[in-house]
Amino acid sequence: MTVFQFIQTEVHDRVGLVRLNRPEALNALNHTLVSELMSALENFDQDAQIGAMVVCGNERAFAAGADIKEMAEASAVEMLKRDNISQFDRIINIKKPVIAAVSGWCLGGGNELAMSCDMIIASETARFGQPEINLGVIPGAGGTQRLARAVGKAIAMEMVLNNRTLTAQEALQFGLVNRVVPVERYLDEALSLAGEIAGRAPLAVRLGKAAINHAYESFLSDGLADERRAFYLLFASRDQKEGMAAFVEKRKPNWKGV
Ligand code: HXC
Repeated sequence: MTVFQFIQTEVHDRVGLVRLNRPEALNALNHTLVSELMSALENFDQDAQIGAMVVCGNERAFAAGADIKEMAEASAVEMLKRDNISQFDRIINIKKPVIAAVSGWCLGGGNELAMSCDMIIASETARFGQPEINLGVIPGAGGTQRLARAVGKAIAMEMVLNNRTLTAQEALQFGLVNRVVPVERYLDEALSLAGEIAGRAPLAVRLGKAAINHAYESFLSDGLADERRAFYLLFASRDQKEGMAAFVEKRKPNWKGV
């Protein structure tokens, strides 16, 4: 069995569960964590005993975004060369359904990860946002694209440009999540939904998922490439250095527009 540093895997009947497990950093998505998550999902996808998957964090946080400390001092060229975001692309090729079970903070890259899953079950305590603007950058792993499709242009603009955070009920109202349940039940609800789907005709589930994602995700690639370039480009700005340093130093940023 593979031993992972930042995730844990479990099997519940025919459902593969991946728990993000970096609680001291609110499950901030560093490069290793994202690689491990994608490997675990790919392993479950290959496993004939598994029919569906669930990704969860803990009650306090699904994930508070990409790891700011890992990229705070990077230049645009370094970001481009590392191209860590390409790891996020691996989820697009998973053939079995993946459900995100979200409680607490679901921010930045965390929200982008949740939106890359096929469905989202939210606890009443879940909070969804794209706070990159506070750091002098924008979402980079599909946030501008998938959010606009999920919640519509108006709300997406407020979230990306002004750090509007959605409550679980708002996320339900705007179509970002499937269900909202009490915090004690969110993981069981996601496992139960995944279990039901895992009991259905596997080929029809696989092709149904692919067909819906075709409707939802086609024409997305140009937008994603554009967003990724813009995200990396912002690492050439002084404001990105200031915004991320301010987060690390726990102070307010002083924007200069350069
Ligand atoms: C690194 C993080 C982190 C992050 C939290 N931590 N979020 N470390 N990257 N994204 C760390 C904190 O530094 C702190 O470490 C510990 O987790 C607990 O966080 P606190 O801030 O003390 O908790 P709290 O006061 O409850 O505030 C919760 C919070 C806040 C509101 C969620 O942590 C926050 O604003 N986090 C950043 C959210 C964000 O900007 N996300 C977008 C990242 S950019 P210490 O060592 O001090 O205990 C992004 C771009 C995606 O996602 C691009 C594509 C991948």
